[in-house]
Amino acid sequence: MKVYLETYGCQMNVADSELVLGLLEREGYARTDDPAAADLLLVNTCAVRDHAEQRVIGRLGELKRHKRSGDVLGVLGCMAQRLGPTLLKRAPQVDLVVGPDGYRSLGALVAGAREGERRTDVEFKSWEHYEDVTPARAAGASAFVTVQRGCDYRCTFCVVPMTRGPERSRKLEDVVAEIRSLAARGVTEVTLLGQTVNSYNDGTADFADLLRAAGAVPGIRRLRFTSPHPNDFTDRVIQAMAGVPAMCEHVHLPVQSGSPPVLKRMLRRYTREAYLDCVARLRKRVPGIALTTDIIVGFPGETEADFLATRSLVEEVGYDDAYTFKYSPRDATPATKIPHAVPDDVAGERLQRLIETVRTVARRKNLGLVGSTHEVLVEAHARRGDALQARTRTNKIVLIEGPAGWIGTYRDVRLTGTTGSTFSGVVTDGRTVGRPDGHTAAGGLTVLPTV
Ligand code: SAH
Ligand code: F3S
Repeated sequence: MKVYLETYGCQMNVADSELVLGLLEREGYARTDDPAAADLLLVNTCAVRDHAEQRVIGRLGELKRHKRSGDVLGVLGCMAQRLGPTLLKRAPQVDLVVGPDGYRSLGALVAGAREGERRTDVEFKSWEHYEDVTPARAAGASAFVTVQRGCDYRCTFCVVPMTRGPERSRKLEDVVAEIRSLAARGVTEVTLLGQTVNSYNDGTADFADLLRAAGAVPGIRRLRFTSPHPNDFTDRVIQAMAGVPAMCEHVHLPVQSGSPPVLKRMLRRYTREAYLDCVARLRKRVPGIALTTDIIVGFPGETEADFLATRSLVEEVGYDDAYTFKYSPRDATPATKIPHAVPDDVAGERLQRLIETVRTVARRKNLGLVGSTHEVLVEAHARRGDALQARTRTNKIVLIEGPAGWIGTYRDVRLTGTTGSTFSGVVTDGRTVGRPDGHTAAGGLTVLPTV
C-alpha cells in the first residue's frame, strides 16, 4: 500500500505530516511521490486565509484524476477541521475529512473508506500529543519538534483557535527524550514548534526551562523556535535565550499591525509600546538578534493613518524580513462583525507599499552585513546553478561554492554580496566553529579538515 501526501501551510503542518506518515508506516504504508501510484492520497491543509483553501479545492480537483477505484482521498489539517462534513458535501471525490487531533484513527478510517464509507473526525482531544508515534522525518541535520498544540489567544482575525483547539503542552521530559533521539541520529538543529510557543507550560516547566533543557542536549548545536507571542517573552524566557549557547539569534515575532486601535480590534493584547519594549529587551539581551514578523493590512476599519503607523513600525524596528498579508475574512471569527471593511483595491495597494518598505528596510540591513563572517549550516543544493544553500544563525540564506559532501555540516563564511534578501559568501575555513563563549559542537559531530 502506498500513500501520497501533500502539505500546505505552516511548519506545524509539515511536522504533522511527518506524524501522519509515521502513523501510516505503522499500518504498513510506504510513501510515494507519485500520486498516480498511490492507494491513499492525502492533503494536509491550511485554513488561515481563503487563498490557501482555494488552492486546496483546486488541487483536490486535480488529484481526482489519480484516484482509481478502491483508492482513498482524504483531507487533513485545519481546513478539514473548519469545514468538516461540509467538505464531504462540497467535494464528492473526498472520502475522509480528519482534523489535527484525529490522525490516530486514520488507519481505521481509511479501512472504512475502502468499504465505501465517507467519514469525518473533527473532534478536539485536549490530551492528544501523538506521544507514542515516531514521525517519519526527512533525513538531514534539521528537525521540527512540536512542543505545544492549539492556541488559547483569540486574535479576532484568526481561525487557528477554531481549527487547532485549546492550547496544551507536551511534558518537558518527552520533548527532551525526542531531541536526544534526534541528536543520536545526527540532527544538530532543532526548531521547537507551537502556535504561541513561548507560552509553553507543562504544569511544572515553562518555556525558559524548556530552552535550557533542549539546548543542553549533547549534539544540538542550533536551537530555534516558532512562533512566539510578544506577551509571553518574560524576562525569564529572554534570560534563558541569552544563556543557552545553541539558541540562535533570530526570532520571528508576529506584530500584525503598528496601529494602536487596530491592535486593539485584533485583540492582540499588547500595545505598540509594549511590542517595541519586547523588541528592545530581546535586542539588549541577545546582541545582533535578527527579527522577522507577520503583518496584516486591510483589517476592518484600518485607515490610511493606521496603515502609516504600521509602515513606521517596520522602519522603527528595522525588521530583517516580514511576511505580509491582506486581511482575509474567516467565517465565524469575531473580526467578520467589525464594520468598515477595507475595499480590496485599497488593501492591495497598501500591501504593495508595505512590501516596498519591508524590502527597503531589509536591503539596508543586509547591505550592512556584507563583509562580516558567520557560521552557516549547509542545508542543500541551491535551487538554481550548482551552488550550495546555507543558513546563518540569524536565519540569512547564503549561497556558497563547495562539494555536496558539505551538506549537513557547519562552515565559516564571509558574506561577499547580497541581492537585498539573500547573500553570496565564501568559506573562510573548514573547521567546525566554536562559539566565542567556548561552546563547541558536542557529541559525535565530525570535525572537518581545513580547506
Ligand atoms: N501563532 C501562529 C499564527 C498562525 S497564522 C504562528 O505560529 O505563526 C500565521 C499568520 O497568518 C499570522 O501571524 C497572521 O499574520 C496571518 N493571518 C492569520 N489570520 C489571517 C487572516 N484572517 N487574514 C490574513 N492573514 C492572517
Ligand atoms: Fe492565531 Fe493569534 Fe493564536 S494569530 S494562532 S489566535 S496567537
